[in-house]
Amino acid sequence: MRPLNLFAKAVLTLSIFFMSAFAEGSFVQIITPKENTLQTELTLNVVLGIDKKHIDAVEVGVFPDMKSLDLSRSENTACVNISLGLGENRVLVRAYKESALVSEESRSVYVSSQLYHQFRYPPKDYKKSYFHNDENEKLCSKCHDMSVNEVENIAFVDVTKSNCYGCHKNINREKYAHAPSANWLCTSCHKQSRKGASKYLTKEPMDAACFECHKENQELWSSAKYRHEPLDAGHCDKCHNPHSAPYNMFIRKDVNEICLGCHKDKHIKARESKNSACAGTSYGDLCIECHTPHASNRPFFLKKRFDEVKK
Ligand code: HEC
Ligand code: HEC
Ligand code: HEC
Ligand code: HEC
Ligand code: HEC
Ligand code: HEC
Ligand code: HEC
Repeated sequence: MRPLNLFAKAVLTLSIFFMSAFAEGSFVQIITPKENTLQTELTLNVVLGIDKKHIDAVEVGVFPDMKSLDLSRSENTACVNISLGLGENRVLVRAYKESALVSEESRSVYVSSQLYHQFRYPPKDYKKSYFHNDENEKLCSKCHDMSVNEVENIAFVDVTKSNCYGCHKNINREKYAHAPSANWLCTSCHKQSRKGASKYLTKEPMDAACFECHKENQELWSSAKYRHEPLDAGHCDKCHNPHSAPYNMFIRKDVNEICLGCHKDKHIKARESKNSACAGTSYGDLCIECHTPHASNRPFFLKKRFDEVKK
């Protein structure tokens, strides 16, 4: 009698699992992301639990930019990486059986940016959520190797061999990629862990992570008389993307746009004042010809003496 009992138990457990995983009429379940996720990157991994008995096609994306998933390679899990825009994104998952829509699920994800006024302050119900804890990774380890396989300070000859590559390849997709990220030495920065949250956090404030390698900059800047506020607060990522960006030195926007994103009012005021050297400049002039973005011994973070820059 014992084996039968065990079997009955297993059937019961399994059916409870499937009942809770797939509520009636919903044959697809969004495992990640969570509702109201806050993030900074413009790519996102979406992982679905699927019930292949009841569906034969799935589309995922931010409408109308939908991607069809190849279900032939999945069992009961389907995975896809999608692109997002700044601000609010409604990530939509649509499941079909014989071309009829049988189920639709969605999640809201907000991508914030310090460089645009309208995206600086996300609505307050959005929260950062973390993925890499044991509980979540268990769901993937049947098919994905979730371990770290990088060797400190040794770049991968073939970056696709990094265990992180398959799920995160889009993080280095922009033209200018930062050396440690481009070489897939992810844990050179992501080395802090917080139990139950994530194994791959960075030091706080984040400049501590940067200064582990950029020691000369730290020495130079910490001894300077004037330090730019976002730098002093340790927020290197306000201007730099630590992974990759469309601009040289992984700056998130064109240099002048970065500066004007935070200083439009002041800059315009300075332009209107007759005595201001800054006033002589048009928006086309490069701010960093006269100012350094980091720190200087001269007021206004000027690179040269005041009389040298004054036009
Ligand atoms: C049943 C096996 C299976 C499980 C379980 C599984 N995956 Fe996948 N995953 C795959 C396969 C197979 C691919 C490759 C798909 C391809 O190349 O088209 C893949 C690819 C991916 C991708 C890349 C998608 C893209 O668009 O490039 C991501 C991200 C991903 N998986 C995340 C996860 C996460 C996170 C989990 C755990 C929550 C998970 N997967 C669980 C089989 C699985
Ligand atoms: C099976 C797919 C998968 C693999 C393999 C994987 N990740 Fe992730 N990772 C995810 C998902 C899913 C998220 C959360 C959603 C997102 O950011 O797109 C995530 C998020 C992260 C985050 C943000 C913090 C967090 O915990 O949410 C970091 C950092 C990260 N991964 C680093 C790594 C590193 C380093 C490796 C290699 C050692 C790695 N990942 C391997 C799927 C994966
Ligand atoms: C130079 C340091 C550095 C390196 C190297 C690095 N990261 Fe990051 N990463 C960061 C910092 C700092 C953040 C938090 C930035 C933010 O939220 O603005 C971050 C955030 C992330 C996030 C979450 C983004 C979000 O939208 O919330 C993911 C995913 C991630 N990193 C994956 C990776 C992967 C994969 C690698 C290796 C290819 C890697 N990182 C290499 C510094 C680094
Ligand atoms: C693991 C070591 C390491 C860490 C940590 C690191 N960097 Fe770098 N960084 C490098 C290397 C290597 C280069 C390329 C060589 C160089 O120019 O110094 C580089 C280059 C740069 C450059 C371009 C410099 C140039 O002259 O082209 C910038 C900007 C930069 N890093 C910013 C950052 C920021 C911001 C952080 C923190 C989020 C950071 N780095 C953390 C190793 C690191
Ligand atoms: C206000 C925006 C801003 C902030 C904040 C910022 N940077 Fe930069 N950073 C820039 C710009 C713009 C450049 C390009 C300068 C140039 O081309 O002369 C740059 C260049 C660099 C360089 C290469 C040139 C050099 O001066 O050595 C490094 C390294 C660097 N930044 C690291 C950092 C680190 C580390 C932090 C945080 C402690 C940081 N930055 C904070 C805007 C910023
Ligand atoms: C993320 C927002 C941010 C960005 C981007 C930024 N700054 Fe600033 N900056 C500040 C803050 C905050 C202060 C200190 C408060 C103030 O004076 O407005 C400051 C102060 C300054 C000052 C001194 C103003 C004074 O009256 O003493 C100058 C000059 C300056 N920034 C130039 C620049 C330049 C040039 C860039 C582009 C490389 C830049 N900033 C990018 C936030 C930013
Ligand atoms: C030709 C050199 C030059 C260029 C180019 C330049 N500035 Fe200035 N800026 C100055 C000087 C000099 C000052 C010192 C005070 C003054 O003359 O107004 C200054 C002052 C400032 C201040 C502080 C104003 C205040 O009253 O507190 C800000 C902010 C500023 N500049 C931002 C910018 C931005 C943003 C750009 C690019 C769009 C830029 N500057 C381009 C020379 C320049």
